[in-house]
Amino acid sequence: MKTIAISVQKGGCGKTTTAANLAAAITAREKHVLLIDNDPQSSLTLYSNLTQERTMTDVYRGTAAIQEIVRDWHGMDVAPADILLSQVENEISDRKDRRDILRKALSFLDSVYDYCIIDTAPGLGLLSVNALMASDHVIIPMEPNPADIWGLELFMSTLNQIRKAKPELTYKILLTSYNDRLKLHQAAKEAAESHSLELYPVTISRNVKTAEAWGAHEPLLIYDPGNKNNIAYKTIAEMETSE
Ligand SMILES: Nc1ncnc2c1ncn2[C@@H]1O[C@H](COP(=O)(O)OP(=O)(O)OP(=O)(O)O)[C@@H](O)[C@H]1O
Ligand SMILES: [Mg+2]
Repeated sequence: MKTIAISVQKGGCGKTTTAANLAAAITAREKHVLLIDNDPQSSLTLYSNLTQERTMTDVYRGTAAIQEIVRDWHGMDVAPADILLSQVENEISDRKDRRDILRKALSFLDSVYDYCIIDTAPGLGLLSVNALMASDHVIIPMEPNPADIWGLELFMSTLNQIRKAKPELTYKILLTSYNDRLKLHQAAKEAAESHSLELYPVTISRNVKTAEAWGAHEPLLIYDPGNKNNIAYKTIAEMETSE
C-alpha cells in the first residue's frame, strides 16, 4: 500500500477537494483505495456524506480499527472524522508513540488496500505529523500567490524535520486555483520553480462545478465528467500509481 498525505499548514487551499478527487481518480484505475479524514473539521466526511458514529477519533484512542469504521463512497473506503478528533491531539501529546499512532493503525492494512489518501487539517499539529509519518509521499496544494510561497517555507521546515526520521518521504507541489492568464500566478509558479520546488506538470483551476460537486456529495469525475480538473486529477493518479 502506498500512502499519500495531502498536507500544508495553510487553510482553504484545496486539500480536501484534492484528497476526494484524487482518491476517485485512483479508484477509477481499478485500485482499492482507503481515504482517511484526518481533520476534526470533518470536511471530507461532509463531502462524502458519511455518518460519524465511529470515526478516526476511535482509531487514535485505540477503541476501533480503521476497518471497523470505514464506509463505501463511490467504490472507495472512507474513514470518517468528527469534531472530537480535536481533543485527540491533547490526549496523545504525552505518549511516547504520539507521532506513530496512524502509521501503526495503517500497518495492518498494507495488503488490504493498494493506496491510502489522507486528508489533513490545516496547521502543523500532531494529527498532521501523524499523517506525514504514516505517508510515503506528500502532495502540497498551493495557491500561486507570493504570500503562499513564503508560507510554504514554514511547512517545508516541518516536512524536513520529518524527513530526517523518514528520508524516503517524497513530496510535490500542486498549484490550485491556477489561472495561467494571470501574471501574478505565472510569476508565483516561476518563483516556486526557482526555489527548486518540484511541481506537478498539471494545475487545478477554480471552477464552479468543482465546488458544486461537494454539495452533490459526488466526486467531480461523476458530477461533471468533462470538467478539465478531472484531467489534472487523472494525470496525478497516473503519476502516483505508475511505480
Ligand atoms: N478548484 C476549485 N474550484 C472551485 N472551488 C474550489 C476548488 N477547490 C476548492 N474549492 C472550494 O474552496 C473551498 C476550500 O476548499 P477545500 O475545503 O478543498 O480546502 P482545504 O485546504 O481542504 O481547506 P481546510 O484547510 O479548511 O481543510 C471549498 O468550499 C471548496 O468547495
Ligand atoms: Mg480540508
